[in-house]
Amino acid sequence: MNEEAEGKSARLRRHLLSLLGDELAPHDRLPTERSLAEEFGASRLTVRLVLDQLEREGRVYRVQGSGTFASEPRIAKSVELTSFSEDMRARGLRPGSLAVTEERIPAGAEVGYALGISPSAEVLHVRRVRTADGEPICLEHSYLPSALVPGTLGEALRGSLYEELAGHGLALRRAEQTIRATVLDPADARELRVAAFSPAFLVQRTAYDARGRAVERALSLYRADRYSYELTIYRD
Ligand code: GLP
Repeated sequence: MNEEAEGKSARLRRHLLSLLGDELAPHDRLPTERSLAEEFGASRLTVRLVLDQLEREGRVYRVQGSGTFASEPRIAKSVELTSFSEDMRARGLRPGSLAVTEERIPAGAEVGYALGISPSAEVLHVRRVRTADGEPICLEHSYLPSALVPGTLGEALRGSLYEELAGHGLALRRAEQTIRATVLDPADARELRVAAFSPAFLVQRTAYDARGRAVERALSLYRADRYSYELTIYRD
């Protein structure tokens, strides 16, 4: 690309980013390629390349024959130890839960190991579909040792699990977490209202209270189209 085209594409990109940031709501249509080309005195090719880049970054999506549209914002996740409810509220979204169930089961090898208890020790398994403004974005399994959480949590699970635990002297302080890429099996995909085998993040967390007790082992499947991880990283 020559220097002039480069200047135009940088201006066009800035313009589109500011439209996406301030003026366009998710799924609003962007101006047509032709009108952008005219407005910026750029070639259609330059406009297309700028839009291609925004599409790769997940800022816009295209519908053949109908145009380019603003994507839903991804919900950026910080590495602070936060709850789902806090994450959503920080982004101006209303957290919620659907299809909440709780059951007592033996921990099994993986959960028992993570929680530092016997595989035969009992845990409370809480399963929830987490929503943001009513839209399902995460399927969450939490396992809590029955020795620490002997009662049922009932209605409290419609709100924040972490607030409920804090109310029982189990405030969480630290967590170990791994994040891997995966795809959603058909049943999970249906609950998250996406196509079978859509990409997802699998977040595995073991969370500890201030006394160092492992309180929660959680497996969360986040829709990859609605979630991103944001880190602040430092260098000495
Ligand atoms: C995040 C964590 C889960 C945790 C949940 C608690 O989603 N990945 O491990 O169970 O937060 O969220 P809340 O307090 O909103 O129920």
